[in-house]
Amino acid sequence: MVEGVERVSSARSFWARRIFSFCGIVPLAIYVVWHLFNNIYAINGRAAFDARLKEATGSPLYAPAIWLFVYLPFVIHAIVGLVITFKSRPNALAMPRFRNWKYVLQRISAIGVLLFVPAHVYKTKIEPWRAGFDVDFAHMQEGMREPITFAVYALGMLGVVFHLANGLWLAGITWGIFTGPRGQRLGEWLSVAFGIALMALAFAAIFALRW
Ligand code: HEM
Repeated sequence: MVEGVERVSSARSFWARRIFSFCGIVPLAIYVVWHLFNNIYAINGRAAFDARLKEATGSPLYAPAIWLFVYLPFVIHAIVGLVITFKSRPNALAMPRFRNWKYVLQRISAIGVLLFVPAHVYKTKIEPWRAGFDVDFAHMQEGMREPITFAVYALGMLGVVFHLANGLWLAGITWGIFTGPRGQRLGEWLSVAFGIALMALAFAAIFALRW
């Protein structure tokens, strides 16, 4: 009887982990990469940024797609992730190895992402909506020139990029792509390279907006 209950609960946690991992990688990772590629147009100036923003968000399908492929998977990933975080026991202090620190940082950055994303949605959607204007280069520039908003974005980018790059490595293990010590090490290097590229993209946009 107890064995049966355990089997049901381990099957449930197997599927919960897969859904959690899928939501994190497929819709959210794709959205973040696409979003950061859009923001990089800030390097080409105000007109290029605003034109790209209009093109990226102008479709009547944009709002339903964002709700379905960004907000819904974000909420699922966050809820399942919080359950996993509170059930886990960090051992980085007992065994200070690179992977154990990444394990702890994955959880700390998750909290950072959970704080950053609502603040960012407030800045880019709710604040302009309440004041009756559309978000544009000028609004983002004003934010990036404010020290507190700039600090929130800089820390937010560190958290999001680490969480995403290391999360892709973890997902590669969950889905059996990086198997064995060599495969996992290769995956680790790929995730570091991806993280550096994404960080460069994010900070290039932030600094282009600030200047
Ligand atoms: C360089 C840093 C970033 C800048 C300059 C930036 C800029 C913007 C702008 C201008 C908008 C409003 C237009 C739109 O809906 O796309 C927006 C919306 C949004 N951004 Fe970002 N973003 C940045 C990073 C991020 C990151 C890392 C995430 C994810 C973790 C993110 C998630 C979102 C979400 C969820 C929305 C609302 C989408 C919607 O409801 O329409 N952003 N961002």
